[in-house]
Amino acid sequence: MARVLTGIQSSGRPHLGNILGAIVPAIELIKQNKQESFIFIADLHSLTTTKDGEVRKQNTLAVAAAWLAFGLDIEQTTFYRQSRRPEVTELTWYLNCFTPFPMLANAHSFKDKAEKLSDVNAGLFTYPVLMAADILLYSADLVPVGKDQMQHLEMTRDIASTFNRIVGEDILTMPEARIDEVVKTIPGTDGQKMSKSYNNFIDIFLPEKALKKNVNSIVTDSTPMEEPKNPDSCNVFKLYSLVASEEETKQMRANYEGGNYGYGHAKKEFLQLIIDKYRKERELFDFYMSHPEEIESRLAAGEEKAKAVGAELLDKVRMKLGFK
Ligand code: ADP
Ligand code: TRP
Repeated sequence: MARVLTGIQSSGRPHLGNILGAIVPAIELIKQNKQESFIFIADLHSLTTTKDGEVRKQNTLAVAAAWLAFGLDIEQTTFYRQSRRPEVTELTWYLNCFTPFPMLANAHSFKDKAEKLSDVNAGLFTYPVLMAADILLYSADLVPVGKDQMQHLEMTRDIASTFNRIVGEDILTMPEARIDEVVKTIPGTDGQKMSKSYNNFIDIFLPEKALKKNVNSIVTDSTPMEEPKNPDSCNVFKLYSLVASEEETKQMRANYEGGNYGYGHAKKEFLQLIIDKYRKERELFDFYMSHPEEIESRLAAGEEKAKAVGAELLDKVRMKLGFK
């Protein structure tokens, strides 16, 4: 049985892209797997962008609440905060010393920001190494992520194989990315990739009034109401079809193509779809956010479970490197 592992940064509240690209596929994969999985909140990674501690705390709770609301089975899962397992930062240092500089200079996460190097902190530059340590510390086999993380997974594999080759033993397990082919990249309200950092996300956990405003902010063109519209070039339709059933999507396509159906109508239906389809998840999310102690106890239990697994791998690495 393969071990599943994935993480989400606590750099903002979890959005529809995180849910459809990471949370739902990971939970499905965990259900199919009999073995224990590792799900964590990448709060250390969030420090590359978010410096405010209070904000991080709230976001960490929100990301945890989203996993629980979507039904993460914590019996089968080791559920933890990355920062509560210091083994990961020790392994990161070791892996840093096996990572060629040009590999990191080539990472999209760095290159996208490299025009203004004075804005790039060293944490952002070595971000992929911390991510590799997250995965390799727990000997993960399968890593469900969105398409944007593909390159980071390739780097993790490169780092692992370099390390194993140099130390002369296959200590680190080669992980494989699992990218949901249907979902791939969820567009944001402006049509770019939905991301916390572009402020273009749909937050399905907002109260109804704020959610309505959020859905209304999806950018559309100015085709008049009466005219037929092309669903395939419309963000509202794309987002709707990612949440809706096949039947509902077919109906929505017909509405677009038939004319006399405005973007306002489509947005209204999308809002209702979110409310109906995620009714239970929205309620659970609110419950957990107003009972942070319920989140805390689950995470603390996971952090205890993670300790033994990480310590064992780290010991082997220390031994090989002459630190023990
Ligand atoms: P963000 O880009 O909003 O900061 P993260 O980097 O924390 O999101 O991503 C957490 C997980 O959610 C990753 O597996 C990532 O691939 C997935 N994800 C994020 N945005 C999207 C998206 N727009 N479409 C599909 N998956 C996404
Ligand atoms: N870098 C990932 C993202 O931004 C989050 C992450 C950190 C992660 N460590 C990980 C994902 C390990 C999978 C496995 O989406």
